[in-house]
Amino acid sequence: MLKSIGATAAVYPCPVLIVGTYDADGTANAMNVAWGGQCGPKHVCLALGEHKTTDLIAEKRCFTVAIADRANLVAADYVGIVSGNKESEKVAKAGWTAVPGEQVDAPVFQELPVTMECKVVSISEELGETCVVGEVVNTQVSEAHLTEAGKVDVSGMLADEPTAGLDAENARAVHALLREAADDGAAVLLVTHEQGAEEYADRVLHMDGGRLSG
Ligand SMILES: Cc1cc2nc3c(=O)[nH]c(=O)nc-3n(C[C@H](O)[C@H](O)[C@H](O)COP(=O)(O)O)c2cc1C
Repeated sequence: MLKSIGATAAVYPCPVLIVGTYDADGTANAMNVAWGGQCGPKHVCLALGEHKTTDLIAEKRCFTVAIADRANLVAADYVGIVSGNKESEKVAKAGWTAVPGEQVDAPVFQELPVTMECKVVSISEELGETCVVGEVVNTQVSEAHLTEAGKVDVSGMLADEPTAGLDAENARAVHALLREAADDGAAVLLVTHEQGAEEYADRVLHMDGGRLSG
């Protein structure tokens, strides 16, 4: 049973993106962005308020976007609370080591597992936010987060009813993508009522009356 709750942007989970920039003196800065994501085949977008990062992206026309993990939770929160305008040692205080990107003039924080180096495609003012679109020109991934096939390891993927509301064709497409991730080395756990999902699975368990069998 669905219930209307008013106009609520409910795109969850929000990512924990860490955006890296250098200032004119070569000091690295980092900020936390939840309003961002992938918006093209090799493109990321960010919705930014008035921050040091926003100014530096406009100046330098490049930035990095890293994915923070659980090990970096406290540091990721810190860079989302403290501004580089007030704390020039922000990155050091977060406990991160900044190394210049290979393709852009922006820092790569060595403690974060996945970093995309981006060049600015566009900056526009929309809905009171500065919307930045960047093209990913290089991605650095810690070896521990690479599969044997050399792709980003997304192991531990839990997909809970990912095809709810999709038509049959799109449901098959989602299942095929999950299968591909599994073939690339990820452990994928799919919870679904979708008929036909079994075809894509290595192992199928049925839940009946609160008991797992199969
Ligand atoms: C969890 C979290 C998510 C955030 N998401 C955004 C966001 O999407 N856009 C934004 O402009 N600020 C966001 N912020 C706020 C900035 O990260 C924060 O103001 C930061 O200190 C700006 O740093 P800077 O001034 O050094 O660039 C977020 C903060 C936190 C803690």
